[in-house]
Amino acid sequence: MDLEEIRKRAVEGIEKATTANEIAEVRIKCLGRKQGEITLALRALKDLPDAEKRKTGPLLQKLKAEIEAALVFREKELENAGRIIDITLPGEKTERGHLNLLTQTEDEIRRIFNSMNFSVIDGPEVEDEYHNFDALNIPAWHPAREMWDTFWLKPQKNNDKKRYLLRTHTSPMQIRYMEHHKPPFQIISVGRAFRYEATDATHEMDFSQVEGLMIGEDVSLANFKFVISEFFRQFFSDKEVEVRFRSSYFPFVEPGVEVDIRLDNSRWLEMGGAGMVHPNVLKSVGYNPENWQGFAFGFGVERLAIVRHKIPDIRLFRSQDLRFTKEF
Ligand code: DAH
Repeated sequence: MDLEEIRKRAVEGIEKATTANEIAEVRIKCLGRKQGEITLALRALKDLPDAEKRKTGPLLQKLKAEIEAALVFREKELENAGRIIDITLPGEKTERGHLNLLTQTEDEIRRIFNSMNFSVIDGPEVEDEYHNFDALNIPAWHPAREMWDTFWLKPQKNNDKKRYLLRTHTSPMQIRYMEHHKPPFQIISVGRAFRYEATDATHEMDFSQVEGLMIGEDVSLANFKFVISEFFRQFFSDKEVEVRFRSSYFPFVEPGVEVDIRLDNSRWLEMGGAGMVHPNVLKSVGYNPENWQGFAFGFGVERLAIVRHKIPDIRLFRSQDLRFTKEF
């Protein structure tokens, strides 16, 4: 049998075909189950001498595959050629993703403080008890520990003396920074914090905070009031912002205050805590409280976005509800 002849006829037929029907015809002619040339040739193999069989068999199979591929290729070619591009049709819109509102808000907070010469630092979400509590003037026996319902982590090794937790606030970043830097400086840190507590419209167990710390020889609450007012002014750029301090208690500051704001003369809103860094905290990182002083603050990031955009429920931020994501 002449394989070259079969190949030539098939290729000619495929090249000449200009419609799907013609392709189908060539396919039947070559590969059809009853009278296809290849089919017949394969069937005729059994009458050949063994040596011939072993030689021609594989060649025939190869040719069969080639013809099949050529048919498919030509089919696609015809299909594409038949596709008319109508440039008057409206375009297909490709969807683009974007950053979640929480990330956008975090970025903006960093940008604003950065513009006021604050350095932005980052640190671990898994903390040890010392940085999250003790060094912040909250020893184990202190009742104030109850202000932070804590996710404690199981010890990895039995002989591990350190106890680990998911940080309940970003305040340990104050300690981590001061341990390795000398004042004067001003920093912020934005990141996740965790509380082992029930969630509702205003509480999440996984949320974001911004921590600030400024230490110098004569840094005072008056400096804080200026810095934080300037931050709010930029963050709520289209609104008039008033800021007030209410006396409050946090173990790591003295005095401690609660920071409220009022937008466009509406009601006062609580935004977070702040105060003058407690001498015990300064001592825990080896600073002399006689020489150095400064302010610290901690605000909820979601809270800032909630107030700015009038968002009804803090749980929306991590809900993965696309209606929410797309709105901002
Ligand atoms: N860490 C506090 C909390 O999460 C917030 C806070 C209050 C941070 C006062 C501060 C501060 O730095 O001075 O409840």
